[in-house]
Amino acid sequence: MKRVLVATAGGDCPGLNAVIRAIVKRASQERDWEVIGSIQAFNGILWEPTEIKILDEHAVAGIHFQGGTIIETTNRGGPFAWPIKDKDGKWTTVDRSEEMIRKLMYMGVDAVINIGGDGSQRISQALFEKGLNIIGVPKTIDNDLSATDTTFGYQTAVQIATEAVDKLVTTAASHNRVMVLEVMGRDAGWIAMNAAVAGGAEICLIPEIPYDINIVVDKINERFKRDRGFTIIVIAEGASAIGKEMSQEKNDEVGYTNARISGAATRLVEELKEAGIKHSIRKAVLGHIQRGGVPIAYDRVLATQFGVHAFEMVLEGKFGEMVSYRHPHITSVPLKEAITEPNFVTADTALMKNARGVGISFGDK
Ligand code: F6P
Repeated sequence: MKRVLVATAGGDCPGLNAVIRAIVKRASQERDWEVIGSIQAFNGILWEPTEIKILDEHAVAGIHFQGGTIIETTNRGGPFAWPIKDKDGKWTTVDRSEEMIRKLMYMGVDAVINIGGDGSQRISQALFEKGLNIIGVPKTIDNDLSATDTTFGYQTAVQIATEAVDKLVTTAASHNRVMVLEVMGRDAGWIAMNAAVAGGAEICLIPEIPYDINIVVDKINERFKRDRGFTIIVIAEGASAIGKEMSQEKNDEVGYTNARISGAATRLVEELKEAGIKHSIRKAVLGHIQRGGVPIAYDRVLATQFGVHAFEMVLEGKFGEMVSYRHPHITSVPLKEAITEPNFVTADTALMKNARGVGISFGDK
């Protein structure tokens, strides 16, 4: 029997379970393959005792519409930076990648499928360079990977953010208020821009375009006739005013190396008040609601295709590559290329131009 190990790594994302199910279903068509899952990314392999889950058809039945991941995930630590306490009680990290690869050999693992975002695919590439038969499956709600047209989970996040805008419109209109909605996306403004267009917002602030607070104020004033009117602002968590840094908060979780982005909406409300906005302002921070719950049909379909294709890449021995969607094909790209260029909104992005075409201000003109 041959064995493929599946791991889900980094932040969770609607559609992960649909990928896992598709890998298992496709593998079950080959008589000599079995699938196992490592619990919490590669932690399940690195822990003593190991924690794995047998992924047979029974284990994955009906999970395609469930959010989260049945094998859990983590965005802390990993085989190259495993947190340990030194003799003074301070946290430091050690490289356990070679030990992990040896362990996988003893466990009879022939191939690994790592489902994760850019950070996780950097780990895939490094493990591949050390000789592991590994394949990447892209995953992120942020849509910030350039090696694939899009990723599963992203459209679900856009849908949830849009529904939030819809709800804010009715309460903003009733109270003649400025409503600020903060959405996720790290350094990328994709979720914000899509939700702003779909929800009919007036202002959209994204990390790619530092905003001029006076332009934002002018746009708000244009929307109010004396005290009557309302304005919806969608702000990406990574957005900031000209000359300011992304708003972050301290994170003491052991092994968490990412910047913890937080506070963009709160800061914007203060900036608006300082700049003279007298209308009533409220904010809502959508946060992890965007990552939870059932994936929409589009994401289930994409995730299912990614899972089938990933297992077929295992059969073909296409290691060191990442699954990619290049319309109309599901294909693959070398992991090395997949992790070089991020996918950001640019001045050429059609949706950016068209958003301006329906009067959305990005706080820059
Ligand atoms: O990368 C996905 C993402 O949801 C970002 O949009 C967000 O900034 C981050 O993860 C939040 O991470 P955590 O789950 O660690 O709070």
